[in-house]
Amino acid sequence: MRADLGHLLDEKRVLLCVGCGGVGKTTTCAALGLAAARRGKRVLCLTIDPAKRLAQSFGLASVATEAQRIEPRVFAEAGLDVPGTLTVTMLDVKSTFDSLVAALAKSEEKRQRILDNVLYRYISTKLAGTQEYMAMEKLYAIKDDPAYDLILLDTPPTSHALDFLDAPERLVAAMDSAAVTWFLETFRRSGTFSLNLLQRTAATVLRGIGHIIGGGLLEQVAAFVTEVNELFGGWRARARQVSTALRGPDVGYVLVTSPEPMSLREVSFFAERLVQEEMAPSAFVVNRMRGVPDERALPEEIARELAARGLPSQPDFVARALEAAAEERRLGERDRDNLASIRWATEGNEAPSVVHVPAFPRDIHDIDRLILVADVLAPCGDAPAR
Ligand SMILES: Nc1ncnc2c1ncn2[C@@H]1O[C@H](COP(=O)(O)OP(=O)(O)OP(=O)(O)O)[C@@H](O)[C@H]1O
Ligand SMILES: [Mg+2]
Repeated sequence: MRADLGHLLDEKRVLLCVGCGGVGKTTTCAALGLAAARRGKRVLCLTIDPAKRLAQSFGLASVATEAQRIEPRVFAEAGLDVPGTLTVTMLDVKSTFDSLVAALAKSEEKRQRILDNVLYRYISTKLAGTQEYMAMEKLYAIKDDPAYDLILLDTPPTSHALDFLDAPERLVAAMDSAAVTWFLETFRRSGTFSLNLLQRTAATVLRGIGHIIGGGLLEQVAAFVTEVNELFGGWRARARQVSTALRGPDVGYVLVTSPEPMSLREVSFFAERLVQEEMAPSAFVVNRMRGVPDERALPEEIARELAARGLPSQPDFVARALEAAAEERRLGERDRDNLASIRWATEGNEAPSVVHVPAFPRDIHDIDRLILVADVLAPCGDAPAR
């Protein structure tokens, strides 16, 4: 079992960082981007909502939806030798969705009608799953761009990692019924219409009851249902193409988890689903691992340590420091034991890489700390000679 991801940076064209909310997907994605650029790759990092301070440390006022290349001077100032390039861009759900409609609509007039439609605006900004699907859609659109050797995709915070995998199918299904759902949500409170009406086709129903509720809104819904039904043929085919692309041999999945049992359970489940779906996980990153100190701290050592730092070394301080050290050890042992019981799902005979990233005392919000993570994920020394 390999304990670094360097080989993936060399072998894959696309790497997706997936996992539950807050486990460190964006950090992993950025660190892998840095590591790959240090190996001479031209990297595109498609990220979602990175910490403002991290963006600033790369010399960006903020991460914008247009691609921005990190200035070589930023790396030089951090004392890094970066022969490759790192370009970052942020996912913009609405504009990705608009481009998709533009690509699928049969005429400019139809495109404009859909984009102007009030229900479309709701779906393209608020419908659950849209962000996940658009991340994949964007990936599909850029994955063959010859300007890059490696594309890293950060994924949106999902409470459940499986949400991401199911996103294209769920979104298409939701689109089918979106008019109905939206209609229900919007008009339930009015109490003037019967649910039975919805058993007929949505467009007819919506037109039919227009006179009950009235207003241009209903016409918009009816128009949308008709227009989108026309798009759906293209839409479904597109969702299938995205799905197929995500199963290609040049696409890798980096599953990020914390060492907490719940997160580990979720990631194991997710990994099994990936295997079933023929998208074998390429690597697991266990982020924020607490280490187990090699030796137990002795009271006299702690007293010496405290004194050396100009801190009080009376017995009660030493006792408290010992308690803190014991607690640290206990937490480290707990993380280690939690991991010991995990069987990392994989396809075929090849065991996936599992990398443990330590819990750093502070957030990873600057380039110096990101390098520490990058060095754990893909040590610079193992880069192939250029
Ligand atoms: N190993 C680590 N040690 C210390 N801090 C960390 C570590 N990994 C990540 N962090 C910090 O934890 C926070 C969450 O990390 P990150 O934003 O990468 O998670 P995420 O999985 O992308 O979250 P979300 O699901 O909300 O998008 C950030 O402030 C980051 O700097
Ligand atoms: Mg994130």
